[in-house]
Amino acid sequence: MTARIINGTAIRDEIYAELEHEVSELASAGIRPGLAAVLVGDDPASKIYVRSKIAACEQLGLRSEHITPAANTTTSELLALVNDLNSRDDVDGILVQLPLPVQIETRKILEAVDPAKDVDGFHPMNMGELVEGRPRLVACTPLGVMEILRRSGISVAGVDAVVVGRSNIVGKPMALLLMHGDATVTVCHSKTRNMRKFTSQADIVIAASGRPGLITPEDIKPGATVIDVGTTRLSDSRLAAELFKHSPQRLEKFKEKGFALVGDVHPDVAQVAGALTPVPGGVGPLTIAMLMSNTVKAARLRRGLRTQEKAASRR
Ligand code: GUN
Repeated sequence: MTARIINGTAIRDEIYAELEHEVSELASAGIRPGLAAVLVGDDPASKIYVRSKIAACEQLGLRSEHITPAANTTTSELLALVNDLNSRDDVDGILVQLPLPVQIETRKILEAVDPAKDVDGFHPMNMGELVEGRPRLVACTPLGVMEILRRSGISVAGVDAVVVGRSNIVGKPMALLLMHGDATVTVCHSKTRNMRKFTSQADIVIAASGRPGLITPEDIKPGATVIDVGTTRLSDSRLAAELFKHSPQRLEKFKEKGFALVGDVHPDVAQVAGALTPVPGGVGPLTIAMLMSNTVKAARLRRGLRTQEKAASRR
């Protein structure tokens, strides 16, 4: 059996088409949602991510602002910047790209963002609303995974789901979203004694450990859905040779470039799984789509307008 490979880019395009429609409706009401993206310092990966987020705003007709404080910015300087963005009426969403330089107290910054503008869903208030089962603004990557499942016709209610990874950004909110979708959820992590015992029984496995190739075919029940959230820039040629042993083209490309973007899931899992998201081109495109969706949602919520989900649930 070979898994159905889920096309994240096509799902993103579907969401963009819906958002374009919503943005033009808001425009007729004189509303143009705005996102402020703050990138402190010059981490190369963060620069690429933030640039893609700004480009997505431009594509959808959202207002965007790219703020780039120097790498030696202090916590209090960054707090002042966040407070200024909190007070501005033309800013609906605030995103502070992580990781922040070491001298900055990340927790203080995330707690300073107005929860109503917290399009990353990292504020403890938004995390708390999610825990209670009335999510408002939720972290983009786990939201994107839920959209992939929903739009691929993979139901969650009643299934056994395993989340591998327990980060605040992905693992924890992911487990909560699945639980609220009526899945039976197990969370595995680096201290789990026998991960395979859990993953090999699961109908859905969400891999978010950041460890390339961690999930192998033996870990997966035949026919299960496997969602790969990991994105690692791999430069270890031995591991690349192992991961790409059945993909000569990818191995060639790795040798040419000296690196490859890989997920947590070994490519051979495609021989066992029922459905699988690739890296790249799986969950990645959805993360930015959900950031756009959260920005539009924040713009509506701040103005007391009904959100699209509310409207849909009344139909
Ligand atoms: N760094 C890695 N992922 C994310 C994310 O989703 N949001 C922000 N702000 N920074 C990140």
